[in-house]
Amino acid sequence: MSIKFERKAALYPGSFDPITNGHLDIIKRALNIFDYLVIAVAVNTDKKTLFTKEERIELITGAVRDLDGVEVTSFTGLTAEFAKSKGVKAIVRGLRMVSDFEYEFQMALMNRKLMPEADTIFLMPSEKYTYLSSSLIKDIGKYNGKIECFLPPNVVEALGKKFQIKNYRG
Ligand code: COA
Repeated sequence: MSIKFERKAALYPGSFDPITNGHLDIIKRALNIFDYLVIAVAVNTDKKTLFTKEERIELITGAVRDLDGVEVTSFTGLTAEFAKSKGVKAIVRGLRMVSDFEYEFQMALMNRKLMPEADTIFLMPSEKYTYLSSSLIKDIGKYNGKIECFLPPNVVEALGKKFQIKNYRG
């Protein structure tokens, strides 16, 4: 007799400025576990962003267009409150290396305090993305460095336009 398990929805919050293949890797891993993933651009972080909220949403939407069971949106305010409003009880975060741990651990425990019914699930990206970050990519991109292996094609194009680089190497 086979047992049918009910799978659930999760929230993947982040700045996504811009989305990288590392984020995509986490999204695909999350979709192996959850039926539905809400990918949400956090708007009011202290980070000064290169891409506007609308651009970040558009870039994520383009990057995940072949994936089923995803919703791309944005939120202001607390992640925990947004998770509650979505009826989601799992928050997905990527852990790239040990240096991510302290900040993520603190955030996970605080989010659990704010929303005791939810837990943070940490997923490790493929090793080839562990040293990747959106800031590094933007820095390399600004000087026309090669970044195509780190980004979805639509993001490579958008970065080229942002930096107004002709014949972008991406
Ligand atoms: N692959 C590649 N890069 C990755 C990655 C992965 N799998 N996972 C994380 N990163 C990088 C990002 O590119 C980003 O790089 P950057 O700093 O150079 O831009 C960095 O890791 C962290 O980014 P991100 O995952 O987007 O997290 P964040 O720290 O920018 O945002 C929030 C974290 C949005 C979840 C958090 O600030 C938040 O919850 N804000 C809402 C307010 C709130 O609830 N505060 C209380 C929290 S307890």
